[in-house]
Amino acid sequence: MRVVIARDYEDLSKKAATFIAMEVRSRPESVLGLATGSTPLGTYKELVRMHRKGLDFSRVVTFNLDEYYRLAPEHPQSYHNFMNENFFNQVNIKKSNVHIPDGLTSDVDKFCAEYERTIKQKGGIDIQLLGIGRDGHLGFNEPGSSLGSRTRLKTLTEETVRDNARFFSNPDDVPRLAITMGVGTILDARKLLLIASGGAKAEAVKASIEGPITSQVTATVLQLHPHVICVVDEAAARLLSRRDYYTYVEKVAATVQENAHI
Ligand code: F6R
Repeated sequence: MRVVIARDYEDLSKKAATFIAMEVRSRPESVLGLATGSTPLGTYKELVRMHRKGLDFSRVVTFNLDEYYRLAPEHPQSYHNFMNENFFNQVNIKKSNVHIPDGLTSDVDKFCAEYERTIKQKGGIDIQLLGIGRDGHLGFNEPGSSLGSRTRLKTLTEETVRDNARFFSNPDDVPRLAITMGVGTILDARKLLLIASGGAKAEAVKASIEGPITSQVTATVLQLHPHVICVVDEAAARLLSRRDYYTYVEKVAATVQENAHI
């Protein structure tokens, strides 16, 4: 696992966007797994900036991690709306290449199985962007989620409902259920890119990177994946025991790269 410690949120966003842009440049038909929430906002902003300078999304295919159950795509707090506003409407992505779970589906099981099939049909996810909940969730895989789980309907914890309430004018409107890719679905992506910012995420980051693997903190499965990059800012990295080593690794890697160009 590669742990990149960014100076601050801006630096984190630039670094995360650079990893995604590298993927898109090397394979213009890349399949990107995308996330919503506060953390990726800066990453999307940076990708939009790169698009204005030529980064091409015309062949890119995307799959979002999750969507609230029973929230219409037009709802201001739906993840459909979030993605359109913050990313899709500002780049040259084809709407037919965009996939986000349908919160209004009348047959959840059928829809979820179809979502999984579509990911496979498109060749699988090349790089999956991930935020992390304070309880260590990935997507909406709350504590106790099976580490082999696939896309399904999930009940959100009280803590997650409270955290998400900041986006809703009436806290009672916060959905209690969401359709989310499973932990197993996430692990199938060829690369994982986790981003975490701020002191409130420090415990979850510490548990995920350095703690024992457990379904009680689903992000600990990152440790099982062969290609993970965690970009965390100073505040989120605060509790990492091996942060000096992670910084040293990045320095050595940069030196090796520089020498490779000589
Ligand atoms: C969103 C998602 C969630 C968030 C997590 C952190 O698509 O899958 O796992 O990444 O809840 O949210 P923020 O970034 O708002 O702290």
